[in-house]
Amino acid sequence: MRNPIFVTQPSLPPLDEFIPYLEKIWASKTLTNGGPFHRELELALCAYLGVKHIALFTNGTIALVTALQALRITDEVITTPYSFVATAHSLKWNGIKPVFVDIDPKTLNLDPTKIEAAITPQTTAIMPVHCYGNPCDVDAIQEIADNYNLKVIYDAAHAFGVQCHCGSVLNHGDLSVLSFHATKVFNTFEGGAIVCPDAKTKQHIDHLKNFGFVNETTVVATGINGKMSEINAAFGLLQLKHVDRVLTRRREIDSLYRDLLHGIPGIRCIQRTGQQVANYAYFPILVEPDYPLTRDELHERMRDTNVFGRRYFYPLISDFPMYRGLPSSARANLPVASEISEKVICLPIYPDLSDDDVKRITTTIHHHSK
Ligand SMILES: Cc1ncc(COP(=O)(O)O)c(C=O)c1O
Repeated sequence: MRNPIFVTQPSLPPLDEFIPYLEKIWASKTLTNGGPFHRELELALCAYLGVKHIALFTNGTIALVTALQALRITDEVITTPYSFVATAHSLKWNGIKPVFVDIDPKTLNLDPTKIEAAITPQTTAIMPVHCYGNPCDVDAIQEIADNYNLKVIYDAAHAFGVQCHCGSVLNHGDLSVLSFHATKVFNTFEGGAIVCPDAKTKQHIDHLKNFGFVNETTVVATGINGKMSEINAAFGLLQLKHVDRVLTRRREIDSLYRDLLHGIPGIRCIQRTGQQVANYAYFPILVEPDYPLTRDELHERMRDTNVFGRRYFYPLISDFPMYRGLPSSARANLPVASEISEKVICLPIYPDLSDDDVKRITTTIHHHSK
C-alpha cells in the first residue's frame, strides 16, 4: 500500500530555527500574559495582513465566543449551516439562538438575498463565514446590517491573508475572527485572533481575554482565559517568515489540481470568487450526478488507495443534534447547503504535497470517471 495522504498536514519550519526563540523564552521566564513575543506577533500580523488592530487568542473558538461577548450580542444571530461546527457553537455558548440561512451556490457563503427574510425583532447580528477563504459578499451584508442596525462578526477562520476588492477581507464587519489551528494556512499549533477596527475595541477585548482584569485589583467584566502563550506567539513569528513560500506552493497545487481535473464529466471545482489575493486553504470538489460514482463511493475508492479526502462540510451544522430541532434547520430552508454538503469532498492540499501526490489523487478520480 502506498503512503497515506491526509486532507491536510501542518506546515512546520525547520526545528533548529525555533531554538533561538525558545532560548529567549527560557531566559526571560515570561511564558504568557502579553509577553514580548505576543506583542511582536500582534504588530507583525497587523503589518502582514493589512489590518489595524489584532488581539491574539488561544484558539479561534474562544476568540469567536469572546467577539460575541465584546459586542454584547444576544437573542438571535443569522449564520450559515455550511461551516465548521464551532461557528454555531460559539453562539450557543453565549446563549444565542443561531438562525440558519441558506448559502449561495457559487461562493458557498451566506446568501445575502436570503438574509432579510430571516430577520426578526430578536435578531442582533449576522455571523457569516468566508468559507474556504472565498470572501462573502461583504458589501451586500453590510448594507443589510446598516438597514436593520445589526452587528456583523465574520468567522474568518479560513481567510488568513485573503484580499477582496478593497484590501484585506478582514477589515469588513465589526469584528473578524481568525483561527491559527494546526490545519490552517498559518498555524501557531493552536491559536486565533480577533481583528478589531479601533484601539478601544482591542483594549476591551484584551481585558475580556484576561478574565476581565484591567490592572492588578480591578476586574471590569466577566472575562475568560483566552490568552495566547509566548511559545505559540514565538512560533507564529517564525511561521510568518515562511508563510509566503507556503502560499506559493498552495497556489501551485491548486492550479495543478484544476489542470488535471479539467474536463472530467461530473467533477466540478469550486471557482474562486471575489478575492484579489487567495490563500488556497482548501481544495473542494463537487461530485455531480453525471459522475459514475456517488460522492461517498468516490470518497471510499480514494480511501482504498490510502488517500483521505474529507467530506467538509458534511453533515451540515444544522443537522447536528443540538441544532436540528430549530425551525431554520429544516432542509426545505437550506436546499443549496443541503445539496452541496452531499456532493463535496475536500482534496488534500498542503505545502509538502508533491506534484506526484496530486497526480496520484487525480488519477483515481479519472480512473472511475470511465
Ligand atoms: C470556519 C471555522 N470556524 C471556527 C473554527 C475554530 O477554530 P479553532 O480550531 O482555532 O478553535 C474553525 C477551525 O477549526 C473553522 O474552520
